[in-house]
Amino acid sequence: MPNRVAAVWSRAQRRLHWWVAALILLGFAIAWPMVALPLTELLLKFLLYQAHKTIGLLVLALMLWRLLLRARRGRPPPLPGLPGWQLRAAAAGHAALYGLALAVPVLGYFVAATAPAQVPTLFLLVVNVPHIVGPDPAAFAALRLVHRAAAILLVVLAAGHAAMALRHHLHGRGELRAMWRG
Ligand code: HEM
Ligand code: HEM
Repeated sequence: MPNRVAAVWSRAQRRLHWWVAALILLGFAIAWPMVALPLTELLLKFLLYQAHKTIGLLVLALMLWRLLLRARRGRPPPLPGLPGWQLRAAAAGHAALYGLALAVPVLGYFVAATAPAQVPTLFLLVVNVPHIVGPDPAAFAALRLVHRAAAILLVVLAAGHAAMALRHHLHGRGELRAMWRG
């Protein structure tokens, strides 16, 4: 990604950061009861799957928008005072968060598309998102494991990232304020 330097995070960049964070956590929280629910609760199960898939597709769209803004506008320079290794670790963590937040929804889409029991993917319950591949039990078995593992890794990394942001905030540094209020 080109390293353009902006004066501050734009309002759109800040909003996108917090919307994506909230949607990822919501999609992750819904995933477990959605899979665990017995087939006797079919309607609720169906609705949770559609909510999960809608949230995930929204994350994908917002992440693409965010990457576009990041490439066009860049980001503010890191606040002074951090050693080089911490700056490099933060940059690597951010790159991993970008990569996973894109990969997890794409993997999720292929889990849904290859599932042996075909359930349509209805964005917001109304727009039928076509599955570009068909049922494939072997691919489904592998993809669901990778999708789940990548989602757990994403949330664990995000928790570490949030902990670092809060730690800096408690030490009087301004990164969190800059991402919250600009
Ligand atoms: C940020 C986005 C997403 C996150 C954090 C996420 C997270 C997860 C997690 C943790 C599971 C595993 C639940 C379990 O095994 O008990 C799961 C399952 C699933 N996800 Fe996602 N997901 C995301 C996006 C998507 C998208 C975009 C789709 C499809 C369009 C999708 C489709 C599915 C399906 C079909 C399953 C169930 C697989 C099964 O039956 O075992 N996910 N998701
Ligand atoms: C799923 C949740 C989250 C994801 C995927 C995420 C992702 C990211 C990414 C990729 C960046 C780098 C932006 C760039 O360089 O273009 C970033 C920056 C930032 N995030 Fe998050 N984030 C999440 C949650 C949080 C939370 C909960 C907090 C605070 C409690 C937080 C605080 C910050 C701050 C302060 C920055 C600016 C860091 C800096 O100036 O270097 N993030 N986030």
